[in-house]
Amino acid sequence: MSQQQKIIASPGRAVAGAARVPGDKSISHRALMLGALAEGCTHISGFLAGEDCLATMAAMRALGANIDASDLGRIVVDGVGLRGLQPAGHALDMGNSGTGLRLLAGVLAGQAFTTELTGDESLRRRPMERVAVPLRQMGATVTTVDGCPPVTIRGGALQAIDYLSPVASAQVKSAILLAGMYADGETRVTEPGVTRDHTERMLESFGAQISYGDQVAAIRGPAQLAACDIAVPGDLSSAAFLLGAGCLAEGPGIVVAGVGVNPTRTGVLDILRLMGADIELGGRSDAGTEPVARLVARPSRLKGVAIPTELIPLAIDELPLIFALAAAAEGVTRITGAAELRHKESDRIAVMAAGLRELGVRVEETADGASIYGGPVQGGTVNSHGDHRIAMAFSVLAMVARGPVTILDTANVATSFPGFVELMAGLGMDVTHG
Ligand code: S3P
Repeated sequence: MSQQQKIIASPGRAVAGAARVPGDKSISHRALMLGALAEGCTHISGFLAGEDCLATMAAMRALGANIDASDLGRIVVDGVGLRGLQPAGHALDMGNSGTGLRLLAGVLAGQAFTTELTGDESLRRRPMERVAVPLRQMGATVTTVDGCPPVTIRGGALQAIDYLSPVASAQVKSAILLAGMYADGETRVTEPGVTRDHTERMLESFGAQISYGDQVAAIRGPAQLAACDIAVPGDLSSAAFLLGAGCLAEGPGIVVAGVGVNPTRTGVLDILRLMGADIELGGRSDAGTEPVARLVARPSRLKGVAIPTELIPLAIDELPLIFALAAAAEGVTRITGAAELRHKESDRIAVMAAGLRELGVRVEETADGASIYGGPVQGGTVNSHGDHRIAMAFSVLAMVARGPVTILDTANVATSFPGFVELMAGLGMDVTHG
């Protein structure tokens, strides 16, 4: 039934105003997990009450953590301590969330019981050996089904490892660091590219012995976590859609305050600026160990660029939006080094290319990216294949289309950005649930 949900977005560039976006998804998952494993009560403000993080909340409760979410603005996690989790007694359904499943796999590698992790149809197609391999090296027994969920994990006494990851993935790095909390000695991960460091920053806030820098992170175990308060910033990955709309709009621009601007996440701002976007970052402050700022996007004449590959992991979740904006830009945008996009909630290269072609945009797809030729965008029907970010990217692109764009299979927008349609409509976008 959820496949029948759709969004209808119609042309119109009178989109402007100020808004805040829901809390950061990555940070919300981590706050629940670390809060549950800490000694004492962790208070979380700004939590993203989207389906992905709610699945993590249900999983941590099933494992014995006491989480009071009666006030979603101030969640209280009564931690059970690093060794206090209990068997769930049933498989844990992580929904659509690769982050939830992979990070929890790291935690479960340290537990002396067996847990099965599964998820929805999309998650059950995503690669899990990337976390299973290092967790087995540490001593956990991990099984996957043809490399995908369901994943079963029997943990126990773990050994510290020095792991050279073949993939630039914060989820892989995080799973290993979380398992490293249970190992004696230093567990170290080296990555082929810079990835988001929210786990490292938050482990530091909870008092773990962690060191990190470009492409290397290490934790000394066994860890002991002390509860702390976490203020979750607005999610830059959600704010990006508002910024994209601000660039395509006519008018004074769009302002989004309280957005996380961790430098391992701001590749999208760099890419937008390379494309000629008028983006201003001001009012910097800190939410705990995470920097936040106010972002302003003004109408911009976008141009096609070759996106530097080192920016790809720093903008990995914003690339569907960049594909869409490339269609509205003048000239050709070349995206390379982005093969990881094929392993997200959908194959984001194939799904974006197919949707853009439906709207009359010329796209040349490659194994690790695409060339997108800017030009007129027609109205039409595109299938988001249940991928939240693809649905939102096409909603933004519809602003400059020549007719309405109907986007199919959009229920999963609620995984990361509940209220997206209502918020964008409030800024003047002509968008409705179909
Ligand atoms: C995330 C890491 C990224 C990102 C995902 C969230 C995280 O995935 O795409 O949406 O919270 O650690 P990878 O680790 O697979 O790159």
